[in-house]
Amino acid sequence: MSRRTQLFCCRVEKKPRDTALILALCFARIHPPEFFKNKYAVDEAHYVTEISNVLALKKPAVLLTLRGVNTDSGNVSKEASFEGISQFNVNNKILHPEIAECRVIKTDMELEVLRYTNKISSEAHKEVMKAVKVGMKEYELESLFQHYCYTRGGMRHTSYTCICGSGENSSVLHYGHAGAPNDKTIEDGDLCLFDMGGEYYCYGSDITCTFPANGKFTADQRAVYEAVLKASRAVMKAIKPGVAWPDMHRLADRVHLEELTRIGILKGNVDDMLKVHLGAVFMPHGLGHLLGIDVHDVGGYPEGVERIDEPGLRSLRTARRLQQGMVLTIEPGVYFIEHLLEQALSDPAQACFINSSVLQRFRGFGGVRIEDDIVVTATGMELLTCVPRTVEEIEAFMAEGHSCAKSFGCLSSQKQ
Ligand code: GLY
Ligand code: MN
Ligand code: MN
Repeated sequence: MSRRTQLFCCRVEKKPRDTALILALCFARIHPPEFFKNKYAVDEAHYVTEISNVLALKKPAVLLTLRGVNTDSGNVSKEASFEGISQFNVNNKILHPEIAECRVIKTDMELEVLRYTNKISSEAHKEVMKAVKVGMKEYELESLFQHYCYTRGGMRHTSYTCICGSGENSSVLHYGHAGAPNDKTIEDGDLCLFDMGGEYYCYGSDITCTFPANGKFTADQRAVYEAVLKASRAVMKAIKPGVAWPDMHRLADRVHLEELTRIGILKGNVDDMLKVHLGAVFMPHGLGHLLGIDVHDVGGYPEGVERIDEPGLRSLRTARRLQQGMVLTIEPGVYFIEHLLEQALSDPAQACFINSSVLQRFRGFGGVRIEDDIVVTATGMELLTCVPRTVEEIEAFMAEGHSCAKSFGCLSSQKQ
């Protein structure tokens, strides 16, 4: 709703007799309540100015309004009100946890929309991968993604501000904000970490692709990329109802540490590394989050589910056990972030595991994140995202640049 429309609507509430004129100015045509009843498939629809009288006739024992804390953002939702509400018995506490829970477990119709947002957003990511060239600005790719989503998918909005980090910017977790608006020139040898998702009818998607700007991974880029892909696929294999999400985060950490040891950046025993939270040096964010109407969706910490106050784990936006119908992102990442590396090197408990001469080669490398959206099924998970994922798929796709029809094994891996 534009500022102008909001202004008109405020006036609608204050001066009911102007309603017809103002609605005509806003919408050109005034629809009858029946129109809204059908459009939103609700039992009844009335004009706001009539709400008090309509409810008074029904004599409700209690009116439920929605007020509560969003456990992800910390914001408090503002409850609905209307002139005359004070004559009713209003409870603003019951509804919030119930609605949050409804949003956590998706219906089949919601899943249909989420499959669609993922399909179009996956195609848009592929379009970007085909188009990227050294010398372009990061925002050119952001713009192309948005253009594809809107023109081909009717997706007017993205679920969040696009993150198009190249080179060292790929290690900036929420790059792309107003202070760093995807405005670097992409250079030869850069990795691109593009985290973008289109939104349709309020339902989001949240997908990250990481690939070399010039279409060919260096040996180090391949090694780090494959470490993250291994973590992603290990988590996908383990997912099923009953699994605790923090255990999935720990699993990703373990795979990262094993692979960084294999590469030579780390040395020693991985169990001992986990005890000093070395995983959080390289993946300082949570493994993933609930996804739906909000990109970081509600219901992550209902009563009885506590946040785990440990590095990495404390960033998880949910610590729940998985249930069928939950939609989540799986987004492991390995980043080389200067101040975190410095901190680790100056902490003897962590520094003893770091091979600093090998690490030196990775300073300025940036980071890799691989982010897919999934639905928890009765026996495992369904993968919603469909983009080139292995090094071979990415290199072949970027070299060909055309074969959009290719499925990258997504269809065969849909039901894990
Ligand atoms: N794009 C935001 C996130 O991955 O959580
Ligand atoms: Mn993302
Ligand atoms: Mn995400």
